[in-house]
Amino acid sequence: MKNTVATFKAMKEKGEKISMLTSYDYSTAKLVDEAGVNSILVGDSLGNVMLGYENTIPVTVEDMIHHGAAVCRGAKNALVVVDMPFLSYQVSVEDAVRNAGRIMKETNCAAVKLEGGQEVCPQIKAITAASIPVVAHLGLTPQSINAFGGYKVQGKSLEAAKKLIADAKAVEEAGAFALTLECVPAKLAEMISKELTIPTIGIGAGNGCDGQVLVYADMLAMFSDFRPKFVRNFANIGEIMKQAFREYDAAVKDSSFPAPEHTYKIDDEVIDKLY
Ligand code: KIV
Repeated sequence: MKNTVATFKAMKEKGEKISMLTSYDYSTAKLVDEAGVNSILVGDSLGNVMLGYENTIPVTVEDMIHHGAAVCRGAKNALVVVDMPFLSYQVSVEDAVRNAGRIMKETNCAAVKLEGGQEVCPQIKAITAASIPVVAHLGLTPQSINAFGGYKVQGKSLEAAKKLIADAKAVEEAGAFALTLECVPAKLAEMISKELTIPTIGIGAGNGCDGQVLVYADMLAMFSDFRPKFVRNFANIGEIMKQAFREYDAAVKDSSFPAPEHTYKIDDEVIDKLY
């Protein structure tokens, strides 16, 4: 069944957990979709995972559209959310609506996600007013990595916790239909989830959120540059891939690949006439 913003709302009301995974290409999106995961996030984490950048800052709207469109072609039932990259919405409300519109028109996604609280509420209001559903993102917002000075848990002090609660209420009020909470203490994320009528999707924010999201390459142990504490390896696909690549390399070198069953035939008569 097709997942929509209405599905998210109904799942929150019924207390059903929402599952979300990232994808950045057609084939992975198809697998995630066929597994029945509710939603696919084309995260700007593609900067790290797909493009080998140190952080998400260099990712462009073009990158998001290129990968987002491929994911949308592979996802039949999952609700696809595409990240708005750094500086595609912070400069002005007009910029934000234009870029969100481009992302939706050129990828066929169902929603966009952007990072920030009260400071981006005018953007959230304007984008939703243009009929583009918005997922907000609070806590550790990787586009602010230089301002944070590192990947750290957010909202631990009284002041920071109060600000996080105020930001969560503000993005809901501005029209966001869901909220990603990243690297937030579990008790605080649970409190926020209870306060809001929109679902919270946690990553490193404990079990009290209304749903969970993970970077697919992290949960499959395919990405080894860094491994956050909140990741569980659901399969060791990285090692399985490496072993298969080793076996391929050996088979090419000892000429056992390609075997006769992998080759195309031609009549001997044709070959004979070539000489
Ligand atoms: O870019 C991304 O993958 C994200 C998730 C970590 C929530 O924003």
